[in-house]
Amino acid sequence: MRQRLAVANWKMNGHLADVAQARAIADGAKDMTGADVLICPPATLIAEVARALEGTAALVGAQDCHAAAGGAHTGDLSAAMLREAGATHVILGHSERRAAYGESDAQVRAKAEGAWAAGLVTVLCVGEDEAVRDAGEAEAFVTAQVEGSVPDGAGPHNTVFAYEPVWAVGTGRSADAETIERMHGAIRRALLRRLGDAAEAIPLLYGGSVKAANAEALFALPQVDGALVGGASLKAEDFCPIIAALA
Ligand code: G3P
Repeated sequence: MRQRLAVANWKMNGHLADVAQARAIADGAKDMTGADVLICPPATLIAEVARALEGTAALVGAQDCHAAAGGAHTGDLSAAMLREAGATHVILGHSERRAAYGESDAQVRAKAEGAWAAGLVTVLCVGEDEAVRDAGEAEAFVTAQVEGSVPDGAGPHNTVFAYEPVWAVGTGRSADAETIERMHGAIRRALLRRLGDAAEAIPLLYGGSVKAANAEALFALPQVDGALVGGASLKAEDFCPIIAALA
């Protein structure tokens, strides 16, 4: 039985006034015991959100970290700093960071090792863009991302995986059931090859235009253990129905 997890990725959205939404999400989900909830606000809000969630079951995560434990890295944050602020998880390898900063699989892997050293669980993202899909190379591309970005020693205690096809992120066009099943199957096989039996219990989330209207059908798929949600995670009224569909 794998963990079922609803992750809110607020991206570069959210100010102090929005901390109340995090609490509203946690309160709204309090009886939804079949799913865990993780809220990843901008780094500036992690400590505030962690405080606001005290006494609830919801967790706080970061959206990126540096691979190093500290040093001369202007503008960056170490995993230990994020942990100290209250984060338990960190999203790594999101397609927006891979595209905007050219993050490679090797960098994602190094960041994951840094995150584990500080006690964070990593939410590792993979996914192909439209050109790769149109070329018929989606499975091979994503399999290579998995092989390149997962450190040795990954298991359910330190790793969550997320399949986010780039063409489905923020477009309103979620991948269909057949595509998700095929890609999740390919990712699970790659994880099993790479990690052996420990891979079986690693949760595998889907991300890309998840909303209340498509959540139930998505979570009925046997290979989908939860969702990584962007736009529909900013407000409790949008995110709580997604958590309810998973729980
Ligand atoms: O990490 C979540 C994200 O990339 C999906 O965004 O807005 O399509 O739910 P969205």
